[in-house]
Amino acid sequence: MNKRISILLFLVLTACNSESNTSKSLYHFYNTHLFFDLDNEVERNPCKVQGTIPDWLTGTLLRNGPAKFTVGGEKRVSWFDGLAMLHAFEFTPQKVLYSNRFLRSEQYYIMMKEKSLNFSGFAQDPCPVVFKNQTSQFIPKEMQDIRSASVTIQDYADMMVALTESPLPVVFDSKTLDTIGNFAYTDELPKSQIWESAHAQHDLATGETFNYLIEFGPQSFYVIWKMQDHSATREVVNKIPVDLPAYMHSFALTEHYQILVEFPFVVNPLDLMHRTKPFIFNYKWKPERGTTFYVTERSTGKLVAKIKDDPFFAFHHVNAYDKEGKIFIDIVTEPNANIMGEITETVTNKKKILESGKTKLQRFTIDMATQTLSKETIFNDTLELPRVPADRTAYEYQYCYAVDAEFPNSIHDVRPLYKIDVNAKTSQKWEKAGCFPGEPIFAPRPDGQDEDDGVVLSVVLDLINHTSFLLILDARTMQELARAEAPHAIPVGLHGFWNQ
Ligand SMILES: [Fe+2]
Repeated sequence: MNKRISILLFLVLTACNSESNTSKSLYHFYNTHLFFDLDNEVERNPCKVQGTIPDWLTGTLLRNGPAKFTVGGEKRVSWFDGLAMLHAFEFTPQKVLYSNRFLRSEQYYIMMKEKSLNFSGFAQDPCPVVFKNQTSQFIPKEMQDIRSASVTIQDYADMMVALTESPLPVVFDSKTLDTIGNFAYTDELPKSQIWESAHAQHDLATGETFNYLIEFGPQSFYVIWKMQDHSATREVVNKIPVDLPAYMHSFALTEHYQILVEFPFVVNPLDLMHRTKPFIFNYKWKPERGTTFYVTERSTGKLVAKIKDDPFFAFHHVNAYDKEGKIFIDIVTEPNANIMGEITETVTNKKKILESGKTKLQRFTIDMATQTLSKETIFNDTLELPRVPADRTAYEYQYCYAVDAEFPNSIHDVRPLYKIDVNAKTSQKWEKAGCFPGEPIFAPRPDGQDEDDGVVLSVVLDLINHTSFLLILDARTMQELARAEAPHAIPVGLHGFWNQ
């Protein structure tokens, strides 16, 4: 069985609780080895280090991801709705200290204190997350309205925030990982009845963070906003009316443009209003709509191009840049949204799903003079969780780092961590049987000149030994420099942030 398909089936099972015999064993395998509960919290635990950590490496790798899925070891939520946990690997010269802490969200108190799964989530009953208020006597007053933000970590207004796709970002202490509270935007943009991407993008050169939200209503809008460094005030860049808003997990940013790539996986806002299904169950795959590229000029906020392409789907943009009248947009694409359709039960033809579980890295080039689009494949092996160096975001670049998107079927499987040269279309990799690396993050050497002068950091789950370690690779060679052992196995996570 295609291994990427196995994860699709796993997601279905956790969402729908209907199992075949083959799927039952996969379900058990994933629950045991990848998506297990981590209840233990530790503070600044010294890690045993093997190898030599570069003496210039100081800073903290912050990670986010779901880490608890069950209550009483029986009732279970899907991966998407696991309880958010923050992790920190703090580098001091030749020493690594590890901490981890659950985000204190409403969901935390419902699961940990009330021992209940009665909350709304991405694929979780009873009601769509964006419009549901949680209620439980166990939620402290100061923690009310805090979501289980398990997806990404960003720097907003000199604070660390955890994000998911519902308002609001959650501020936490980057040293203790204590939850502080919801981030207080100081603007008039709506803070409820919306969806907001967890993948805000930061332009290091201009000191601006860009993101977009969806305002749902009888007339819905994609609202593109920007926020200056050190500020909590969003400014609207463009507001694009839309009939059926799409699920777009991320977007593209270049020096001069912001681009929304609208996949034909869309929702009728009225279905969200009626609150009859969990949030993502309301979305439908409509390939006849094709994919639309909305190009907004950063300086004027004007929509300067709207270009159609064939239908496809994606979670992650890798990077984008513009040069000499052309815009280059690199995306990890999938031929369709079956991965979501499975969850939402909108795809019933299992054979069709088996034939289409592969991702690839594609480059889409928009010629602004002719308003035409062309595309090519950069990397054809299935991959996910792509990252580029922070100072390359929105600018011309050469390297991205990503992991194999196929999930293991056994504890001895190999899952590579890739470095991809997007110009030469070549790759290097690190791999070890039984090792499951998480999202790779590049940490630059101070005063380094080359784009790959630094290290790649990835939290690796060792399936054979049921342990985790932070892998430190020389980004030039992709050879292991060192590893720092965590005091416990860490379930498969999502995204992180290098806080220097
Ligand atoms: Fe993501």
